[in-house]
Amino acid sequence: MKSLKKVRIKNKKVIIRLDLDLPRDKDGKILDDSRLMKSLPTLNFLKKAKQVIIMGHGGRPKKYEKCLSFDKIALRLSKLLNTKIAFMEESITVLPKEKFVMLENLRFHPFEKQNNPRYAKVLASYADIYVNDAFANSHRKHASMVAITKFLPSYPGFDLEKEVKNTRQILNKPKHPLILLIGSKKVDKLHTLGPLIKRADAVLIGGAMMFTFMKALKQEVGRSYYEKEEVALAKQLIKNKKIILPIDVLLDNKKTVPVENMHKSSIGYDIGEQTTLIYSEILKKAKTVIWNGPMGYVEGGFTKATNLLAKTLINSKVTSLVGGGETAMALKSFLTKFTHSTTAGGAFLDLIAGRSLPAVKALETD
Ligand code: 3PG
Repeated sequence: MKSLKKVRIKNKKVIIRLDLDLPRDKDGKILDDSRLMKSLPTLNFLKKAKQVIIMGHGGRPKKYEKCLSFDKIALRLSKLLNTKIAFMEESITVLPKEKFVMLENLRFHPFEKQNNPRYAKVLASYADIYVNDAFANSHRKHASMVAITKFLPSYPGFDLEKEVKNTRQILNKPKHPLILLIGSKKVDKLHTLGPLIKRADAVLIGGAMMFTFMKALKQEVGRSYYEKEEVALAKQLIKNKKIILPIDVLLDNKKTVPVENMHKSSIGYDIGEQTTLIYSEILKKAKTVIWNGPMGYVEGGFTKATNLLAKTLINSKVTSLVGGGETAMALKSFLTKFTHSTTAGGAFLDLIAGRSLPAVKALETD
């Protein structure tokens, strides 16, 4: 990838693609602005340009939805950047003269997801240079990510460049033992991570996916959440000896029980203390750890195991790579202490699995 630092941007108009898919409530209130924070170094650098046009997507709308409009995002970003940002109510528009401009949510048009070249050409017509600083969306072959690179000289933003470089560096020749710590509910993540599992020495399982595995082993899970439709996949995956399951569970009543002692009425919300200890010992002996997914139901306050394992990693010399939207939220107070961390979900999983990211490829071949 070419470096943006070397580009003469004075007197140039720059269109920049950012990760504006922020966690928001039903009224559009921003719940977390980490993704805006990570765009600030590139945006500050671009203050030297003649004009900066900001674009991105939020949610998966079929048509206009007020709660997914970018008006509130333009306001928040303008505060963080300490600069006025003119908000455009459409992405196909006539631009004003203001230095910073933000286009409306690109996904209000179907053309964005279609990677439509005519739409990309309209977006490209606003500027002389294209910058992509939306790493979390780089697994998507969309107009503002891929097609637009055909029309303008294209560069990675500082965050995208760092994300790709750091992750590739850690995964190029990872030091062994290489341990994967995988949590949250979606078992199919392990399917995606197949190529990485082949390279790993062990895969430690936590989060609600443990109950899908227990179901696959015909164990009682009580009223715990599990993915009924993924039990068959879990049955296949569990044949792999590298996959290690919890031996105890923390229940809704805050009591820990061995997995064999779960009752019909039990609800499991976290891995238990013995499991946390075992996982902690394995992590201490690791040289590289890749972590995706919290160990417990953190939104409900079941954070003990997740926090303890985070502290184990931070206090050891292990190289740690931590990613995923949910994971980043759960580990917010620790994030800067890992070797590398990211708020990206799908793009992070694809990158660590060794898949090519269409938007990164587009920048590399530009
Ligand atoms: C993300 O937040 O993971 C990306 O913005 C991708 O969003 P999508 O899954 O709606 O394409």
